[in-house]
Amino acid sequence: MEKIIENRFIKENIEKNGNRFILGNGYLGYRGTLDEFRKKELACLNLPGLFDQVENKTVEPVNSPNPLYTYLTYKDKVINYENFEIKNHSIELNIYSGTVTRITTFIVEDVDVTIESTRFVSHKENNIIGRTYKILLSKPIDLMLYTGIDLDIWDLNGPHLKTVSCTDDNGLLRYIGLIPNKNHYVEEIIKDDLKLEYNLVIDNSYLLKQYQINHNISFNTIVYVEDKKNNNLTNIDLDYKKSLELHLNEISDKWSKLKVTIESDELAEFGVNLSIYHLMIIAPKRENTSISARGVSGQVYKGACFWDTEMFMLPYYLLNDLETSKKIIEYRINTLPNAILKAKSFGYNGAFYAWESVDEGKEGCSFFNIIDVFTNRPIRTYFIDKQIHISGDVVYGIDKYLEITKDYDILISGGMDVIYQVSKFYYSYLLYNSVKDFYSVNDVIGPDEYHERVNNNAYTNKLVEFTFNCLIKYSNLLRKLNMTYENDELESFIKKVKKVIRKIYNPNILNNVIEQFEGYFNLEDVSLSELLKRKIHPNEYLGGNGIAATTQIIKQADVVTMLYMFKDDYNLKDYYYNFNYYHPRTEHGSSLSACMYSLLATMIKEKDHDYVSTAYKYFLDSALIDYYGDGKLYAGNTYIGGTHPASSGGAYMCLVYGFCGLRFKNDKIYLNPNLPENIKKIKFKITY
Ligand code: IFM
Repeated sequence: MEKIIENRFIKENIEKNGNRFILGNGYLGYRGTLDEFRKKELACLNLPGLFDQVENKTVEPVNSPNPLYTYLTYKDKVINYENFEIKNHSIELNIYSGTVTRITTFIVEDVDVTIESTRFVSHKENNIIGRTYKILLSKPIDLMLYTGIDLDIWDLNGPHLKTVSCTDDNGLLRYIGLIPNKNHYVEEIIKDDLKLEYNLVIDNSYLLKQYQINHNISFNTIVYVEDKKNNNLTNIDLDYKKSLELHLNEISDKWSKLKVTIESDELAEFGVNLSIYHLMIIAPKRENTSISARGVSGQVYKGACFWDTEMFMLPYYLLNDLETSKKIIEYRINTLPNAILKAKSFGYNGAFYAWESVDEGKEGCSFFNIIDVFTNRPIRTYFIDKQIHISGDVVYGIDKYLEITKDYDILISGGMDVIYQVSKFYYSYLLYNSVKDFYSVNDVIGPDEYHERVNNNAYTNKLVEFTFNCLIKYSNLLRKLNMTYENDELESFIKKVKKVIRKIYNPNILNNVIEQFEGYFNLEDVSLSELLKRKIHPNEYLGGNGIAATTQIIKQADVVTMLYMFKDDYNLKDYYYNFNYYHPRTEHGSSLSACMYSLLATMIKEKDHDYVSTAYKYFLDSALIDYYGDGKLYAGNTYIGGTHPASSGGAYMCLVYGFCGLRFKNDKIYLNPNLPENIKKIKFKITY
């Protein structure tokens, strides 16, 4: 299998197909819509990492005008799914060539009008998109062809761009837009090689070339897109054929290093390679940016970077793309000042990283992050102020980066500052219980977002302890390596940390099960199916004051994530009992959940239960989420559709760390395979 293919036109799939057939290169993201689609069908050229905020609306990355907007009309009627019958239709994404091809035959009077187009977003040249467009007629018919720029674009909280100029420059269409708040510009140049007479059609919402046609034609379009500080016109020689060749060579070169082969399981093989594809197309290209939880598929979740990046995606880049790994770490180093400001604004010391990190690490999350389906009013959610594990997740990412790269210089150039500031944050967050003589981490949200404002979430407490240990470990290491890290307060602070570290609240353990947070075991122990029957609305939010909050049903892997991440601190008995307890109580309401269950399941090698087949099921769920495109579209009334790169990263982890049992210890690489029955052999390459 090389492709995702849809072989008939299904109107209901338009939205999800935008994600399934996506192209991108980290600088640009182009949704998998059809050439004639507009805002209504969520057509979008996304500029990831280029953030803007309009008035007091939500901050989000900018969507740029659609430079590939192209359609046909017959007697002034647009030839599309709404106006004409479709005889045949197919659309496919070929992950190995990084191309999307659509072929659609419309019946216009008694003529078959076939549109065939193939496009790419260059893997070699960040600013380049290309497309070839063909029209095939079963017999001559008078049609109009329009091709150019669609300025009326899909935004969740726009418009971000004000048109400065949109002109025809001797056949070359040029657009310059201004992001007024930032005094920053976006330029698009569109060149096609259609050698026919045309009229120019200009409107506030488009700039199009209009051609009369009554015979078969084929033409290529090459597009240059750049965002920049000035509005000088770029002078560039655009060459479709050359750019296509560069793109194809580059992507084939990448696949020769990245492709995973799985003997005797085509779907699993495609699933993992599709996951790699998704991770390839989001590797960030703008300066000082990281990766959004929805990749390059649009503006959902404010285009923000979450813990998803460090915990679920970084492991892939660490084995395959060190440049991107370093970028992910540097992003957190460079955004430390805003994490310090956030901590201060909430009354703490040190660095409290943004739950949804947008421009320069500012907080994108609001206090009212979900819209209630019953009242259509915003619900007070506590992600922004209570999901403090984010800071420890950042430290965990640095630790993993160092474990694999040994790039200790990064500690001196900011990494140690991050660890120190996060330690200071946690130190100021701790609450001493003088009666029981322990330190609590109260009033938090763990990975399971359905239980808000809980005390002593096991995962969060573990990360606090881990962060303190990292501070001590790296301070010792730097000393040993004779590397100077200048911080006059470090030694005295470490002394204070050492005093509290052994007294951090240890979670309750009942029948070998670690209590997710204080009081969790006292909550109603209802089955998931029973809880779901209590729903009144299909999209109602189960967290907050919702129906899950009073029960033991959790949104996503929480203790299970902790056990996987800190596997060396636990044993088989812990994996086994906790997996079995939390598994039936997990809704998997987040795409981050399945992979953690898969990873832990592969570590349980009990004879009486086939854990590996459970691991396999969850691996496929993670790997194929954007193959089927069936991810959640709404949380409450808040739209959350898009691609799921954390799930893609999770699927990759399931394969190499789960089934293949890859481990690094004392600078040696170990493999301890635990393959599902139907998989005979897995072959993958890593760069270590
Ligand atoms: O980071 C996740 C979170 O764990 C669950 N809600 C969605 C976020 C973005 O993927």
